[in-house]
Amino acid sequence: MSSFSQKMDQYLADIQQELDRQLPVTGQEYDGLLQAMRYSVMNAGKRLRPMLALEFCRMCNGEEKAALPFACAVEMIHCYSLIHDDLPCMDDDDLRRGKPSCHKVFGEATALLAGDALLTKAFDLIAGSDLAARYPQRGIEGVKLLSRYAGADGMVGGQVIDLACEAHDGKDSEAFVTPELLSKMHELKTCALIQSACELGAVAAGASEKQRLAAREYGKYLGLAFQLVDDILDVTGTVEELGKPIGSDEEQEKITFIQLLGLDAVQKMAEEHTRKALEALAPFEDADFIKELTASLLQRKK
Ligand code: IPE
Ligand code: IPE
Ligand code: MG
Ligand code: MG
Ligand code: MG
Repeated sequence: MSSFSQKMDQYLADIQQELDRQLPVTGQEYDGLLQAMRYSVMNAGKRLRPMLALEFCRMCNGEEKAALPFACAVEMIHCYSLIHDDLPCMDDDDLRRGKPSCHKVFGEATALLAGDALLTKAFDLIAGSDLAARYPQRGIEGVKLLSRYAGADGMVGGQVIDLACEAHDGKDSEAFVTPELLSKMHELKTCALIQSACELGAVAAGASEKQRLAAREYGKYLGLAFQLVDDILDVTGTVEELGKPIGSDEEQEKITFIQLLGLDAVQKMAEEHTRKALEALAPFEDADFIKELTASLLQRKK
């Protein structure tokens, strides 16, 4: 086994163990909620965001194990965003990570609340971590940056633009949905959380401002490439590999870069963003793992 896949497996195992520890089902009157939270987190997610947090922590000479609550906080927010993204009032998708979406199993109300609870839990994880007890400033910085990237000026704002890019209600969407608007949407709905993951790892390590800035820059370009590949896979992927429905964007009449520019141009854009993400890694020594991870995401099938 290559050292890349060995390291990846170690990260996945550590992340899985921490998520498992943080999401007990405790026999409460609201156990249905706790089960829905576990159902949506303890599954075959790629765990890209927590892995980035741990790797940036390591590259900034921090202790990866101590950063696990920070890393898992981002994954919880990501899982909440996916639960809500699949709801009938949003993308209306019935399959997620190879299983029926949360609302198909637990109902819409519980799915909504499981998302709310995961979002809240994320901040509990950071604020209540041993790392924050030892370095309160890192805890405060972590909460500050995650709340900003996840909220109205980050992921949530991007989801609002995404919904506005659906072509119904007889509006002139061709004029309304410009490449600039789609880029802004990607920066918010996808890059923001990926950037928060990278920067949280740096914050957990007590990194310099220069390293934090580079982590943010890397996350932006990786996020742009990642969402373009997600849009490509929505057209060219298979349900079996992706574990989520294909053709969802078309079904929701979403205008994407693929409609505006075509598949080949979008593939080239993803390659260009990946190149810029790799460039942003210049300040980090020992970046072999993250470089390989970055390149592999261009080729991903899920
Ligand atoms: C899906 O994210 C949502 C996007 C931002 C494109 P991932 O592709 O990381 O989904 P999981 O976590 O592996 O399920
Ligand atoms: C997801 O974008 C962005 C989120 C913030 C969840 P998509 O709607 O394209 O993600 P998938 O394809 O459903 O995973
Ligand atoms: Mg969506
Ligand atoms: Mg979706
Ligand atoms: Mg998609």
